[in-house]
Amino acid sequence: MATYVQLNTGAKMPILGLGTWKSPPGQVTAAVMAAIDAGYRHFDGAYAYQNEKEVGDAIQQKIKEGVVKREDLFVVSKLFSTFHEKHLVKGACQKTLADLKLDYLDLYLIHWPSGFKAGDVLFPTDENGMIIPSNTDLLQTWEAMEELVDAGLAKAIGISNFNHEQIERILNKPGLKYKPANNQIECHPYLTQEKLINYCQSKGIAVTAYSPFGSPDRPWAKPEDPSLLDDPKIKEIAAKHNKTAAQVLLRFHIQRNVIVIPKSVTPQRIVENFKVFDFELTKEEMATLLSFNRNWRICQFIQTKTHKEYPFHAEY
Ligand SMILES: NC(=O)c1ccc[n+]([C@@H]2O[C@H](COP(=O)([O-])OP(=O)(O)OC[C@H]3O[C@@H](n4cnc5c(N)ncnc54)[C@H](OP(=O)(O)O)[C@@H]3O)[C@@H](O)[C@H]2O)c1
Ligand SMILES: *[C@@H]1O[C@H](CO)[C@@H](O)[C@H](O)[C@H]1NC(C)=O
Repeated sequence: MATYVQLNTGAKMPILGLGTWKSPPGQVTAAVMAAIDAGYRHFDGAYAYQNEKEVGDAIQQKIKEGVVKREDLFVVSKLFSTFHEKHLVKGACQKTLADLKLDYLDLYLIHWPSGFKAGDVLFPTDENGMIIPSNTDLLQTWEAMEELVDAGLAKAIGISNFNHEQIERILNKPGLKYKPANNQIECHPYLTQEKLINYCQSKGIAVTAYSPFGSPDRPWAKPEDPSLLDDPKIKEIAAKHNKTAAQVLLRFHIQRNVIVIPKSVTPQRIVENFKVFDFELTKEEMATLLSFNRNWRICQFIQTKTHKEYPFHAEY
């Protein structure tokens, strides 16, 4: 089984990467260095995670130590929603690159389809707590993303949290220069995303699964919420392979040719999560895991529900 997915740019994207949302700035440098030592070459970050400087410190340190070269790494970041105006996109990308201490990204994604009011406030809200939108058109933002490729700031560009109607609009854009290379979406056995994954893969758009463990450290978790890592049926499959539930939850994506980006700041878990290339789930086990779908979405972003580009009203 290949350990990478080939993008429509020809680049090879490692099928397993380290997530960094919620990784505290004081811990993420050590986490990224531990991950590089464990064999990770793909790192998933974003301006909105507010830790790109510290992620960059780790990358720079490991390059300096001679453990890896820049070209061995696959670094992903995301354009935040307050930078959707065409004239703001390049500066946002340059800020991320400066923080990461890199001169290019391997992949730069539009983080959410919905643009927010531009400015210093990350989540500008009205008196009802709803996000204040910007009037930008997705296709304009996409044109600015294409310019980043031409300027050499991003080797590939893509999207995140887009539904298939929004993707179709980009693919049908008159004068489209570059197709999205990747769509990063929430995916796990409780949200299996069969239709959207089939759609993307049929269009040559690679899919990345976020929150593969159901994001147990999400700030809005409630005790009564379902838990993938504690699911007895998932643990049973894991026991059959002498693996952990976490490892089964990662292997599930790899066998669908879906890239997966587990987050951890715990060295022993970082190592555990990389040991997923030495076993194979059976066809029946894959079907069983898919049968657990209950359309349970963790990242609903309800503060954007009234936005014209809210992605989750559509079926897929
Ligand atoms: N594009 C988007 O809008 C979007 C949205 C959400 C996430 N993402 C990306 O996807 C990444 C992963 O998603 P996520 O952070 O939401 O959640 P996740 O990877 O599903 O879960 C992370 C949680 O699982 C714990 N964990 C990690 N490995 C474990 C193991 N082997 N056993 C038990 N627990 C384990 C971590 O704890 P410790 O860290 O304490 O070890 C942390 O609490 C993010 O970090 C981010 O890069 C993108
Ligand atoms: C099960 O996995 C553990 C941890 O990876 C390993 O130490 C042990 O030898 C394995 N047992 C068998 C029976 O393969």
